[in-house]
Amino acid sequence: MRKSDVVQTILADRKGLLPLHTTAKAYAPSNIALCKYWGKRDQELNLPVTSSFSVGLGDKGSTAELSVGKGPHDFVCVNGQEIEWISPFGKRLLEFFDLFRPKRDLHFNANIKTNIPIGAGLASSACGYASMLQALNLLFGWELKDNELSILARIGSGSACRSIWQGFVEWHVGVRPDGMDSFGEPVADAWPELCIGLLILSDQEKPVSSRDAMQRTLTTSALYSAWPEKVSRDLSAIKQAINLRDFLLLGKTAESNALTMHATMLSAWPPVCYALPQTITAMQKIWQLRHDGLMIFFTQDAGPNLKLIFLEKDIDVVKEHFPQVDVVRPFSTS
Ligand code: DP6
Repeated sequence: MRKSDVVQTILADRKGLLPLHTTAKAYAPSNIALCKYWGKRDQELNLPVTSSFSVGLGDKGSTAELSVGKGPHDFVCVNGQEIEWISPFGKRLLEFFDLFRPKRDLHFNANIKTNIPIGAGLASSACGYASMLQALNLLFGWELKDNELSILARIGSGSACRSIWQGFVEWHVGVRPDGMDSFGEPVADAWPELCIGLLILSDQEKPVSSRDAMQRTLTTSALYSAWPEKVSRDLSAIKQAINLRDFLLLGKTAESNALTMHATMLSAWPPVCYALPQTITAMQKIWQLRHDGLMIFFTQDAGPNLKLIFLEKDIDVVKEHFPQVDVVRPFSTS
């Protein structure tokens, strides 16, 4: 099954229709996985080996503004910088736009603005693809359902399927080879006191993309076979923690899930290590603070930065220990 078959199935007779509007704009939040997506059963469609679970980052995300033109090629600007089509990121975007182009000579102009660092393991591609998909939906007037948007965002980047919503989202693994049952679903529960602290420790580009790292792990790590079982236990624990407002259970499950994911990468060959010395120093500081009684945990994605997990009552003390932290309250209404 190819990506274009999925697009054809979802858009059906809307595929090939010209845009309804000349321009459209949409926002999608970044999301941080508390139980990670790591490994694909289908690389073409970004179908995962396991389910995963995330929390949306409110107003941290990306806004995509799309219009159509007749120029010689697509034009994409990310945070004011034009994308080179020969770069790996440019090629991926071009392939994505090709899926939705109704006529060969119709080109997209995309202006993407994100307020989180790009390529630093802060899910910039997740919110980027989700916002582009939402903008395409508006531009063409497709009126897609949320699960269809989630499936189409997934074929851009797996974790993008969770960025269609704010709050807690579960990405169901699904069993179908065409992936029509592998999409995100929002979880009704909110946790108003929950805080996520973005701890930027380096703005260096990551040495290996998450796409390559997860494939390398799946094919070479002796520890990978333990991963699906670990995810299944962690997923239940996270849901139980949310249900019971058991912060200790939530924090330790999310942290242990991330560390296990990184352990599978360390045992891949060639090894993948996203941590920098300052990442390890920050982890040790967090463990010491916890030992001293502060309820603080972390998670880490495909980059050296950490996301701190704590409750609102501890904001001031967390800021004291990590003055550079950027605090997000995913369920805050203010
Ligand atoms: C570590 O969604 O970026 O952030 O599907 O290849 O685009 P592709 O991968 P991507 O991987 C995200 C991996 C992760 C964990 C997670 O967000 O669940």
